[in-house]
Amino acid sequence: MYSGKHWILLAGLAIAVGVLPAQERSEMNSFTSPADVAAGGRLYRPLCSNCHGQQGQGWPGFTPNLAGKLHHVSTDGDIYDLLHTGIPGTDMPGFNLSERETWQVVAFVRAFANDLGQATGDADAGAELYRDRGCINCHRVGDEGGRLGPDLRATAAVSSPDALRQAITDPNRSVHPRSFRARAVTEQGQVVEGVRLNEDSFSLQVLTTDGQLVSLDKTKLRSFAVVSDSPMPSYQGRLSDKELDDVIAYLARLAAREQ
Ligand code: HEC
Ligand code: HEC
Repeated sequence: MYSGKHWILLAGLAIAVGVLPAQERSEMNSFTSPADVAAGGRLYRPLCSNCHGQQGQGWPGFTPNLAGKLHHVSTDGDIYDLLHTGIPGTDMPGFNLSERETWQVVAFVRAFANDLGQATGDADAGAELYRDRGCINCHRVGDEGGRLGPDLRATAAVSSPDALRQAITDPNRSVHPRSFRARAVTEQGQVVEGVRLNEDSFSLQVLTTDGQLVSLDKTKLRSFAVVSDSPMPSYQGRLSDKELDDVIAYLARLAAREQ
């Protein structure tokens, strides 16, 4: 994972920059377009992700969660300066990046943090809704809940509130092929629908939405089809705008937790 060479390179950068004064900079970040954020991501991955994690989530006891509330810095300019000076006396090195590159990394780091900061709902109310409305049945939190849907912590760490809102109210908009399901009708007319687990020419195993494992003899089915709709029900009209905000605030809180 982590090559020794990398560490030496980083240590070299830290020493080289540690003695330089803070760079001249403008007050505002004017490199915030999606292309700048993407360029910042290309710098972030080799320079920062080993210590801070691919999604800025950090490692408890070593690095802070960059997707949560930041403690050393508040403005974009503060992050800019910190990237040049590092944090003396800690493992956070300074970096010798151009002005443009530095702002692009700032924009990328803000894409973790801002997204969560924008969540305006009530996270405690959201936590209750998450259980009452069945999200937990498919999206586990810690050791609790079902496994049909993905763990939403990582999703929330890199998604904006709008993207989360869309995923919840319009799940069919973009369905990952790993979520495609099988729908079979048996000779007796029973409909079995779920995730395909094992399949060969003669048999098929399906994990149904309510968690049952069903084995089917393919030679005896009345019909068989692959369904590409999302297994997730749409919550359009089933959660009010306020309730959606609350659930999103709860997901943001999950993502910001250091554990
Ligand atoms: C060698 C490990 C290491 C690398 C590489 C590294 N960091 Fe850090 N970073 C740290 C540590 C450790 C801290 C926390 C220092 C402390 O407060 O004790 C930190 C703190 C920070 C903070 C302040 C967080 C806060 O809560 O205020 C920011 C922002 C940050 N790093 C961004 C970056 C970015 C962006 C990069 C890549 C350009 C990067 N770091 C590379 C280890 C690292
Ligand atoms: C019947 C199971 C089920 C229920 C109930 C359910 N989901 Fe999902 N959800 C899924 C599955 C499966 C996916 C992945 C679909 C895909 O790959 O396109 C998903 C995807 C998502 C995503 C996008 C994840 C990503 O990484 O792209 C979000 C956000 C989400 N669900 C939130 C919720 C919330 C909030 C609730 C409750 C209000 C909820 N879900 C209820 C099964 C469910």
